[in-house]
Amino acid sequence: MKGILISFEGVDGSGKSTQSRRLYHWLRRIGYDTIHLEEPGGSNLGESVKKILLYSKGEIEGLSELFLFFACRAQLVKETILPSLKKGKILIIDRFSDSTLAYQGYGRGIDKGLIVRLNKIVTKGITPDLTILLDERPKAALKRTKSRKGQKSSLSADRFENEPLSFHQRVRKGYLKIALCNKKRIKIIPVRADEDDTFQEIKKAVLPLLTKMT
Ligand code: TMP
Repeated sequence: MKGILISFEGVDGSGKSTQSRRLYHWLRRIGYDTIHLEEPGGSNLGESVKKILLYSKGEIEGLSELFLFFACRAQLVKETILPSLKKGKILIIDRFSDSTLAYQGYGRGIDKGLIVRLNKIVTKGITPDLTILLDERPKAALKRTKSRKGQKSSLSADRFENEPLSFHQRVRKGYLKIALCNKKRIKIIPVRADEDDTFQEIKKAVLPLLTKMT
């Protein structure tokens, strides 16, 4: 595969979308053919399923939730990720496979071996070249999300943000364990008070990949 896949991971509110978009704009500015994606979403099917996953009023059973995330991923891999990587683009994705292991595996308690096996099928074996794990204590991260959403009356907390703090703490611990097992791929970047400082660390992690591309 000629392209590069960079994923952003972290607990809700850790600033992934802001930082991943910053990286996208920076890479475009310096001349790289770059795409920004997010999960769940990014395809017609993904956008419809996202609404169910985030805002469904009725209860969603753990395995149903898992398969809905996998449905979004399978579609995105087929429609966008594989073709773009073949064309040599840089793909930046806000959440990918590690989210499923952290949230459905460590958070919900679904069999992690099962998640890994199914995920391999769904992603056709695609693994990110680099994963930026934005690490922050869930309490602080969720507080930021709540204040951001509180400022916009159109935005309400989603199913995951409404989970108790203990759920988000399991997710964070899960992420740190996943990172420990994938030291080469996953770079843990602690979230700084100043967004610019966090972004400088992200750039440092990405630069070695760019030199490999040229
Ligand atoms: P976000 O767009 O705010 O990141 O919301 C997506 C939510 O979905 C977030 O709370 C994490 C959750 N999620 C999972 O539980 N499993 C997954 O595989 C993915 C991609 C996201």
